Amino acid sequence: MLRLPGTYRAQGDTSLLADTLTRGQSVVGRRVLDLGTGSGALAVAAVRAGARSVTAVDLSLRAVLTARLNGRLHRAPVRVRRGDLFTPVAGQQFDVVLANPPYVPADSDRLPRHRRGRSWDGGRDGRAVIDRICDEVATVLAPGGRLLMVQSVLAGERQTLDRLDSRGFASAVVARAEEPFGPVMRARAEMLRARGLLRPGQDREELVVVDAVASSVPSTVTGGDFEDVA
Ligand SMILES: C[S@@+](CC[C@H](N)C(=O)[O-])C[C@H]1O[C@@H](n2cnc3c(N)ncnc32)[C@H](O)[C@@H]1O
Repeated sequence: MLRLPGTYRAQGDTSLLADTLTRGQSVVGRRVLDLGTGSGALAVAAVRAGARSVTAVDLSLRAVLTARLNGRLHRAPVRVRRGDLFTPVAGQQFDVVLANPPYVPADSDRLPRHRRGRSWDGGRDGRAVIDRICDEVATVLAPGGRLLMVQSVLAGERQTLDRLDSRGFASAVVARAEEPFGPVMRARAEMLRARGLLRPGQDREELVVVDAVASSVPSTVTGGDFEDVA
């Protein structure tokens, strides 16, 4: 993937979600939304995995330009829109929403607006964007549609499952992977240890993919075959 400066480099969380959507065949023939597309890596992966159509959204202009460029370079038709989460696609419906949101706990709840940090800063508990996705995703999901979202367990895996279930989804963890700390986590390790979020000497974090199916509405979409690994 090409990348304009300041755009998120596809990494372990990106590939965990890309592998999950390919393995589960969850996007074949479906209308897909890639939320917070960054370089467009997941949008391109969704096209390659057989999506019927792919729309991508990002707050960052550089990310939007990068995702458009990568879509063209990889001959992957992706519609890329700029804006905050679901705002650019309000009124549209998708069968699958993919999200690799900012989820790293920060020292403040104030989210950066114009810095690279908006790719990873998730507020003090890491949940500022995750919670908004859980609360708002139903507004763009077709009946029986699903959310596939990757996050660190440091941002509260159980909280995500409970929040989605309380909104009528049937959610489960369908993939897990351990990742060595990158530069951001290394820089925050002391602060996170002081808050009791990391064990002494811990230098890896666990990532999970949450699969949430809109179960309380009639299903018109047959889900992919995932195994619950929770
Ligand atoms: C962790 S990066 C993931 C990038 C890419 N999807 C991947 O997996 O490699 C999160 C992305 O979300 C974008 N983002 C953060 N807050 C957003 C918001 N409120 N609305 C839309 N995009 C947002 C960031 O600009 C960044 O590109």
